[in-house]
Amino acid sequence: MPTLLAMAQTHTFDAIAVLKKDHHEIEQLFRRFERARSATERKRLADRMVRELSIHAAIEEQLVYPALRRRANGHAPQVLLALEEHHVAKVALAEIERLRPVDERFEAKVQVLIENVRRHVQEEERDLLPAMKRTLPPEELHALGDTLVRAKASAPTRPHPTAPDEPPANAFANAGAAAYDRGRDALGRGIARVLDRGRGVVEEALRRGEVAARTARQRLGRGLERAGREVRSEPH
Ligand SMILES: [Fe+2]
Repeated sequence: MPTLLAMAQTHTFDAIAVLKKDHHEIEQLFRRFERARSATERKRLADRMVRELSIHAAIEEQLVYPALRRRANGHAPQVLLALEEHHVAKVALAEIERLRPVDERFEAKVQVLIENVRRHVQEEERDLLPAMKRTLPPEELHALGDTLVRAKASAPTRPHPTAPDEPPANAFANAGAAAYDRGRDALGRGIARVLDRGRGVVEEALRRGEVAARTARQRLGRGLERAGREVRSEPH
């Protein structure tokens, strides 16, 4: 089956359809988690939730919410509510990704995340998506849909609750965070553990904003090289 990105080369997508498809896929992950029989399977699904929700939150914050606020001349209390709900979800995701499936709080934490995200999705589909349909002309909705599909391919894949979540700072922070996350994803778990020792530095940099995020990106480039050297020199 072709990916959304491959289809985007030849089709245009309505932004609302892209967001609803994401919501549907996230709900499928939740249901699979609730039905999963083994702790290993639940952890695997929780890791996928971390990835999919991090990507989804990043593209909404960078592209969807600002478009809605512009149309509402900056006054969009529902967007502010959504940003706070994203923040709480990211805090939970950051904790979940560090937990092992045998940890006593793992299941409860994921269940609370699921409940909160379900409510957030309901609010978006009830309020925000109809507001998009009302306020954005069809051609803009399609252009935004294409941009969302492309942005998904380069968005951060992990939660960064302390990073800026509004423009313009979040564009720079997301670029730095995505470089870190995707580099880490490509390296696999062994090297990721080495890299995670430097995560606090990155989070602090993201908190300080765009200039620091750029510095973090350079540091990370060096960190990735160093981590690669360390692991290559480790006896197997
Ligand atoms: Fe959202």
